Amino acid sequence: MPLTGSKELFKKAYADGYAIGGFNVNNMEILQGIVDAAQEVRSPLILQVSAGARKYARHEYLVKLVEAAVETTDVPIVLHLDHGEDFAICKSCIDGGFTSVMIDASSRLFAENIAETKKVVEYAHSRGVSVEAELGTLAGVEDDVNVNAEDATYTNPDQVKEFVERTGVDSLAIAIGTSHGAYKFKGEAKLDFARLDKISKLVPGFPIVLHGASSVPQHLVDLCNQYGGSLPGAKGVPEDMLRQAAQSAVCKINIDTDLRLAMTATIRKVFHEKPGEFDPRKYLGPARDAIKEIVKHKITKVLGSDNKA
Ligand code: G3H
Ligand code: 13P
Ligand code: ZN
Repeated sequence: MPLTGSKELFKKAYADGYAIGGFNVNNMEILQGIVDAAQEVRSPLILQVSAGARKYARHEYLVKLVEAAVETTDVPIVLHLDHGEDFAICKSCIDGGFTSVMIDASSRLFAENIAETKKVVEYAHSRGVSVEAELGTLAGVEDDVNVNAEDATYTNPDQVKEFVERTGVDSLAIAIGTSHGAYKFKGEAKLDFARLDKISKLVPGFPIVLHGASSVPQHLVDLCNQYGGSLPGAKGVPEDMLRQAAQSAVCKINIDTDLRLAMTATIRKVFHEKPGEFDPRKYLGPARDAIKEIVKHKITKVLGSDNKA
């Protein structure tokens, strides 16, 4: 099955009430762990590459690795640019074989966000590529934030319909309380489901994306810490909240941090148990297995995208 765009996948996910995982890829072991999991539980997959991943592993290497994944599996796979900051990086990924891009101009003024997104949409659509954009910003959102600050950061529902209509974008990342990384909430975890509900009603049938959706499982934090790590107070989005989101208009849920934790915890454990180990396959292999396990868990217990391929 060739690489696919996300449009048809989102249509099915919206109708059937599940979400597709947007999993970040940085190297071969991460890619194989994700893809083996999706193939085993028959889930569609969005493999996403950030600017940092592209710089680290190099565009051509990542594309060839993903092509190998596509050739050896039979589930739908999207190759997506995560957080493209401007038209230039989106164009480079579109020209270089990606089937979906995110233009993240969310830190710019509303009108500028619209203009940059529209430019990417025009270029992408004429080449059959899907586009995700973002309205509202995630970073720095804390549980004890005051209402004004929250409104300034969370997606303003009044802007959503206009943004979607004027840009022609295919999906939209919104800010409702999630954030990137391992430290999402100081106190009780809270997502603004009322805001999500309001937004979905304003653009019925339109796919919403949730970034910053790692759960930061305590057992992985403990494992990291047990073998020399230091992650005090790490806290993510509870899985029941993500399950609820996946059943709504949210069609894509982004997870990176949990994969990093699974990989790092496993490698720490190997080195602790075998301090003399220096064959990379002996620690990257178990790390790949750990990524496969966590992705299978996400797909089957959180996203509900198993058996949807
Ligand atoms: O949202 C950000 C992703 O976790 C990618 O992170 O820019 O460090 O590759 P990165
Ligand atoms: P996490 O840091 O919560 O895994 O979020 C990843 C993400 O949103 C990638 O775009
Ligand atoms: Zn993100």
